[in-house]
Amino acid sequence: MKPYRLVDLVDDRPAEGVFRVNRALFSDPELFDLEMKHVFESGWVFLGMASQAADLHDYFTTRIGRIPVIVARGKDGVLRCFVNSCPHKGARIATQPSGNARLFACPYHSWTFDSSGACKNVKWHNAGAYGQGFTEEDHDLAPIARFGEYRGFLFGSLSADVPSLDDHLGEARHMLDLVADQSDEGLELVPGRVRFTFAANWKMQLENCSDQYHFTSTHPSLIKVLERRAAGENGAAVKSSLAGADFWKGGDEGIVGGSYIFEHGHVVTWGRMEPNPSQALYSSHTALLEKFGADRTAWMFNMRNLSLFPNAQVAVNASTQLRVIRPIAHNLTEMETWCLVPKGESAEARRLRIRQYEDFFNPTGMAIADDNAVYEECQTGMTGQDGPWLQGHARGLAATRKGGNDLSDRLGMEPVSSVAGPSQLADETLFQGYYHAWLDRMSEVLA
Ligand code: FES
Ligand SMILES: [Fe+2]
Repeated sequence: MKPYRLVDLVDDRPAEGVFRVNRALFSDPELFDLEMKHVFESGWVFLGMASQAADLHDYFTTRIGRIPVIVARGKDGVLRCFVNSCPHKGARIATQPSGNARLFACPYHSWTFDSSGACKNVKWHNAGAYGQGFTEEDHDLAPIARFGEYRGFLFGSLSADVPSLDDHLGEARHMLDLVADQSDEGLELVPGRVRFTFAANWKMQLENCSDQYHFTSTHPSLIKVLERRAAGENGAAVKSSLAGADFWKGGDEGIVGGSYIFEHGHVVTWGRMEPNPSQALYSSHTALLEKFGADRTAWMFNMRNLSLFPNAQVAVNASTQLRVIRPIAHNLTEMETWCLVPKGESAEARRLRIRQYEDFFNPTGMAIADDNAVYEECQTGMTGQDGPWLQGHARGLAATRKGGNDLSDRLGMEPVSSVAGPSQLADETLFQGYYHAWLDRMSEVLA
């Protein structure tokens, strides 16, 4: 690896109106290794939803960076997270994505562990002629350093040297509240899961979730279908909630969308959507108005794509999607995605939400395949390069305001900065939030 300095990687000169990113952040495998260690394995990352392990002894498996972990609910009802690696010789104890297990038996030599990670048996222990040192050693699965929940969203850190989870999420919690408040019973994932890979760097996905600029360019076939349905063709087709929205259509000079940057790299991009019957949430509109008032309810119906740095996204647009980003290599990323739903919504609302989900999301939907294809084009276009600078992080700079605006005030939310404007403004400065967090974490290793 070249002896990179941070200033070689991100060119951030706000006074001069410059913010540029080096292509090496996407194309250098050694920088990728540093990211795994210092971004993913040294700070808070998203793990999953508490509802994925709702009952005693339920568990699911995931990773923190490269490290496999198990999230399990013990017989005491407490959720814990431990490293999915046997103390004996390192094998993964749980090999399935999820399940229910009072005991995990290691597939190699059958050491067993209970659902709180405690070692319950070392096979043939008594005949093993172990020395005193072994007997005194801890044989339990190693708990991760920090583990926490915010309104059903679970996070973990391999390092204890991190802020509290509430501090880490900061003002972005308001955006999670808008989702969690939709049901008194909380949130759940529609059963079934989708896992797919794309041959590009993980930051392509991080950026694209907040990229309003690409929508009309990358998704022309989706837009054609929406237009044909709006014109009455194929009346039986699912009604897209995006068809009635104006934030992507252009021409409107009023405020139809914008973005917020929060501390620690979290960002949201939003677009105005008037509550309408094509939205699954619409059947709760009256109840939500009564409970939360006009301002909060209006926000619940807006399109909002939230990214929680570095690896979680909640996309509220055509339906509601939870995404977990798992980087595998500098040019390979695995995604796990689910339809995220308020518990207890009506069968009709749930049906609409799932149909809209299939229509837009999944590698088989009309949007996601387009996105994956352009990520791979970018990766191919950038292979092996550490220059010239990318110019994709500057749009909107002159419209950026410090702090929030009238719309964030309505939620009592205080972002670091905000942009609001007509659809064709299509802010790209919110990506800078990611790179400021990236610089913070990478400054541990690069001068
Ligand atoms: S590696 Fe787990 S029991 Fe041997
Ligand atoms: Fe897209």
